[in-house]
Amino acid sequence: MAQSDKTAKLSFGDTELELPMYSPSAGPDVIDIRKLYAQGNVFTYDPGFTSTASCDSTITFIDGDKGELLHRGYPIDQLAAKSHFLEVCYLLLYGELPTAEQLEDFEGRVTNHTMLHEQMMNFFRGFRRDAHPMAVMVGVVGAMSAFYHDSTDIGDPWQREVASIRLIAKMPTIAAWAYKYSVGQPFVYPRNDLDYASNFLRMCFSVPAEDYVVDPILSRAMDRIFTLHADHEQNASTSTVRLASSSGANPFACIAAGIACLWGPAHGGANQACLEMLREIGTPDRIPEFIARAKDKNDPFRLMGFGHRVYKNFDPRAKVMKESADEVLDLLGIENNPTLQVAKELERVALEDPYFAEKKLYPNVDFYSGIILDAMGFPTSMFTPIFAVARTVGWISQWKEQISDPQLRIGRPRQLYQGATTRDYVDVENR
Ligand code: CMC
Repeated sequence: MAQSDKTAKLSFGDTELELPMYSPSAGPDVIDIRKLYAQGNVFTYDPGFTSTASCDSTITFIDGDKGELLHRGYPIDQLAAKSHFLEVCYLLLYGELPTAEQLEDFEGRVTNHTMLHEQMMNFFRGFRRDAHPMAVMVGVVGAMSAFYHDSTDIGDPWQREVASIRLIAKMPTIAAWAYKYSVGQPFVYPRNDLDYASNFLRMCFSVPAEDYVVDPILSRAMDRIFTLHADHEQNASTSTVRLASSSGANPFACIAAGIACLWGPAHGGANQACLEMLREIGTPDRIPEFIARAKDKNDPFRLMGFGHRVYKNFDPRAKVMKESADEVLDLLGIENNPTLQVAKELERVALEDPYFAEKKLYPNVDFYSGIILDAMGFPTSMFTPIFAVARTVGWISQWKEQISDPQLRIGRPRQLYQGATTRDYVDVENR
């Protein structure tokens, strides 16, 4: 950590403190407040962590004002155009783009771990058929710690590596099986001669009764969706994984915690909520009604797929996703898709509206992804599980980085207590 020449001076009451500052390789300087409580007997207050850097990281950088997203320094639009998901996984996990040999070795390792322990099938069968696939994923991924005991020792670098590969490799199988179970079709085993995205599509859409040939256009689109969602620095689910891991919990338990957090509509659940919203709007003439609701302080409705904590210009992932939606629908011969028309018109109207301009609200990654997934044949309930498949590598990379950080301490925020102070217990008859 590079100590900056600058320090921050803080004074309150009779106390004067000089706090160290650090300069990052990109982004704003940070003030080190770790000794603040010991030296000044005060806490900082930052619910929602809008001004708090919770860790050191070298994986992903976002410049929200420029609309820039870098993985290990490489811009997301270049990775989406020139790379592919497993190569991006390698980059996130190990810090550099792989050589051809390294990539072949990595792809081989991931491919060899795509199957699930056979007994896990029984575990799936314990769920109700109408369970949301995210509920199934939280349960099944958490249960991996009961099936893969030989990769839960976080102190052993080899076990950490095996757990990482297992999670990246098995997540598509878990998501596909959650889907198959919900539609009452037999589970489809992975095929190791297929690439990551094609294998996932086949496990979702093939049935034993007939051959299924993966359309390379869909496979490429799926791979791009995975790439665009791979990591996003210290977002809510990643921070959840880091917090869970800070106690020394095993990797499968930590990733299950991340999946649970991702599910919420303010985070990964927004893709499902967004497509449902676009369908509810139905036709462009109803857009003003929904825009008015989004602006109404007394209405909890928000434009789903709009706004971001960090991006205050545009979300570079949304730009690629929009182009991809056009491309996929075109290639699939889906003309005049009404949902895409509503989405484009809604985006246009919102971006011209002073409310959204002033608050710097732009379409995010979830605005167009659902349209592509819908065109591919996925039900809306599968949108967030697909996000979880893609984000697993981000969670794992951040988890690995944290585990090997010598500064690691259990995450333990403090609070601004507003409750009752000490009072004596009152017997029930006297209350
Ligand atoms: N529609 C209408 N108003 C909005 C929206 C929206 N989608 N998003 C933010 N605002 C308003 C909000 O009401 C607030 O207004 P005011 O200052 O007058 O109270 C202002 O903008 C700031 O909002 P905030 O909730 O304080 O901002 P945040 O940084 O805490 O929340 C967010 C970010 C993404 C949760 C939020 O923009 C939102 O709820 N968006 C819709 C859900 C969504 O698309 N989520 C996906 C995010 S990207 C992928 C991912 O992370 O998984």
